[in-house]
Amino acid sequence: MKILVLGSGGREHALSWKLRQSQLTEEIYCAPGNAGIGQEAECLPVDLSNPSEMLDLANRLQADLTVVGPEAPLAAGVVDVFEKAGLAIVGPTGAATRFESSKVFAKQFMHRRGIPTARFTTTEKFDEAIQALKQFALPVVIKADGLAAGKGVVVARTNEEAEQTLDNFMRRKALGSAGDSVVIEEALAGEELSFIVLTDGRSILPLPPSQDHKPLLDHDEGPNTGGMGAFSDDALLDEGLRAEILQRIVHPTLAGMTEEGVLFRGFLYFGLMITHEGPKVLEYNVRLGDPEAQPILMRLRCDLVELFSATHEGTLGAHEAHWSPNPAVCVVLASQGYPGKPVVGKTITGYDLAENMGGVKVFHAGTVFKDHQLITTGGRVLGVTATGEDLAAAIQQVYAAVSKISFEGMQYRRDIGAKAFQRHSGLLGRSSINRVDPAAQNSQKYC
Ligand SMILES: Nc1ncnc2c1ncn2[C@@H]1O[C@H](COP(=O)(O)OP(=O)(O)O)[C@@H](O)[C@H]1O
Ligand SMILES: [Mg+2]
Repeated sequence: MKILVLGSGGREHALSWKLRQSQLTEEIYCAPGNAGIGQEAECLPVDLSNPSEMLDLANRLQADLTVVGPEAPLAAGVVDVFEKAGLAIVGPTGAATRFESSKVFAKQFMHRRGIPTARFTTTEKFDEAIQALKQFALPVVIKADGLAAGKGVVVARTNEEAEQTLDNFMRRKALGSAGDSVVIEEALAGEELSFIVLTDGRSILPLPPSQDHKPLLDHDEGPNTGGMGAFSDDALLDEGLRAEILQRIVHPTLAGMTEEGVLFRGFLYFGLMITHEGPKVLEYNVRLGDPEAQPILMRLRCDLVELFSATHEGTLGAHEAHWSPNPAVCVVLASQGYPGKPVVGKTITGYDLAENMGGVKVFHAGTVFKDHQLITTGGRVLGVTATGEDLAAAIQQVYAAVSKISFEGMQYRRDIGAKAFQRHSGLLGRSSINRVDPAAQNSQKYC
């Protein structure tokens, strides 16, 4: 088969790497891609906001299957355009992207369908928003309705901060039209978890659990970013919690979508808070997370082309996925200035040494090869990923690999996975009692 991957980040590198390993893959292309992806696939330029350009490219390449990584082409309706033209593509339709692109819509959906989430109110009127603050204790969470690149959510500790945030979003238009409407919701306490499923609209295939690290600095300090690292470890979930997430959140969400006329095909991401009352949904994303994709795909032990073909054909229920029981950890190396304006054009050394280490894969994001040198071109540059017998071993191996790599101004977190390791170390120490049996990761039907 000829496979086309759309996107250019670490997630698309992980997808291309895994897709290339399939016996079914004859040719693999990625558009626009990056330097690392260029070693797995042929990279071609494309405008990810222009569906007809992507369709022309797929036709020209005679692609048998196209896989979409990021949100922009999905929101632009690339899946609708391909489906109308009769081309096979994996990803949700433009209409389905509303579950991510409008937090007001997503919260109202959760409320309608009885899906556990933080108590909330929504409004497009500034005065009403100020009044609504009285219904919530502090801290209170203010969310801009629209896409805001990680800048649209504030957990306000004081009334002044809450009012200031509402003023910024709704009156000063700090986020443009994304802040025209807001969600105001109670702050939940607990541990965050990323739970992602692949679905063909009928059946689901849950991926192993993972955790992202959004803030720039160690101990979750500093501004939010696209993600400075992530890890995937079955010890994040025990069987009971996993069953509860599926039963109370995943199945009702997908059944609700179907009943409301949305056939969701692709990756659906549940951003969860595990509270003392059980798991609650913070948000939906309509795609595989980045950097969660890197450690998750590193653990995949079966043919990804088969899974994606089944997703397109609606036969996912007949498939199982197999995962390595070993955890994986991804540490993002970012440019100086990120998440603001990154300083780029720096030479990267040592990445080849890192990649030659056992159980290590270096996924690329903002990189280009120039005169036989690897050069930085963006904010997030590399996602160094390693597996290990347990979380401690994976953490040790990933940081040993990171220590081989350098470029001027390189910044990264030193504590990816550390908090969970400390919290779960007792649990991990008791060998595999609380581990999810990989055989239990099979696909499941929900309707
Ligand atoms: N109700 C809540 N209680 C506590 N923290 C929250 C709540 N909602 C969001 N957060 C925090 O804010 C972060 C961003 O919120 P999220 O809804 O995931 O929006 P986005 O990823 O679009 O910025 C979450 O990862 C979480 O740390
Ligand atoms: Mg989020």
